[in-house]
Amino acid sequence: MRRHPIIQMVVIGAIASAIGIALALWIDWFPADAAKQGHPIDTLYDVLMIVSVPIFVLVLTVILYSVWAFRMRPGQELEDGPPIHGNTRLEVFWTAIPAILLVSLCSYAYAVLNDIETKHADELVVKVQAVQFAWTFSYPQAGGRAVTSTQLYLPKDKPVRFDIQTKDVLHDFWVPAFRVKIDAVPGITTRLRATPTRLGTFPVVCAELCGLGHSVMRSTAHVVSPAAFNRWLADQQAPAQNAGGGEARQLSQQQLLALGRETFTGDGGCGACHTLGDAGTTGTTGPDLDRVLRGQSEDAIRTDIVDPNARIAPGYAANIMPPTFEQTLSAQQLDGLVAYLATVSK
Ligand code: CUA
Repeated sequence: MRRHPIIQMVVIGAIASAIGIALALWIDWFPADAAKQGHPIDTLYDVLMIVSVPIFVLVLTVILYSVWAFRMRPGQELEDGPPIHGNTRLEVFWTAIPAILLVSLCSYAYAVLNDIETKHADELVVKVQAVQFAWTFSYPQAGGRAVTSTQLYLPKDKPVRFDIQTKDVLHDFWVPAFRVKIDAVPGITTRLRATPTRLGTFPVVCAELCGLGHSVMRSTAHVVSPAAFNRWLADQQAPAQNAGGGEARQLSQQQLLALGRETFTGDGGCGACHTLGDAGTTGTTGPDLDRVLRGQSEDAIRTDIVDPNARIAPGYAANIMPPTFEQTLSAQQLDGLVAYLATVSK
């Protein structure tokens, strides 16, 4: 016996919805959450999935079922279906239900947004500056000399407010493990809040196509204990205090070269864009340093790092390499980098 098409569609739709929801909830869409904001956002995502999967499945089931069940058969080429007029009850139904759903979901999402953006009196302010193609983080509340770093250090369980600016084009500051992201917009300061709750290192990514080096515009968020964070801040401030007293730690040539290599692959992030055999990096956004640095003097290499637009290797565009390394690296890191590059490119 042939069952009514609507009953058949509802049965197929209900089974497909159940499978779709189970699949959507079973898949791990995100990395483990590392901020207080993570849980409410993940719950919101799950609720959106639970509500939207059945609607998607229902629409698709009706379409596919109709294509199959009501297809034209041989001999029906010239036939037309029965004429249909409006159905007021149906129209009220399919306008009201989506309207109620949308308003409820928007209200819920707004409540979550409001909740995760709550101000805290004791929040740590971190200024984030985006530039093609690097992130710089500074800590204005640190006291003493302003601390600026290419790595993001955050104390665990401390509410943080990020003030985000860009020097050039649109970028987007995103820490997937914190779940939150926001555009860096030329001319204005955008804000983002997060309270890291898990110790560890998490990728910082640019999520707005911003040019040739977009894919390498990455950094790392280090969530550390409050004590380790304060130690890190003090360490960052130390070089300047030492410079005044003439107490800067003298490095042997060997230590300087090691610091240079470490800066190349670590803090400087040079390896993301440049190939250098000795450092084992294979970036191709910028010139191959094994090739272009051969025979260059230390002075020329230093200029290439601090003023990258002064001369551009043939075949490469200007304004790709960040012009900020003199500010973001310590004097010693820069010295090490220059000495290291001059040595390995001989
Ligand atoms: Cu900056 Cu993409």
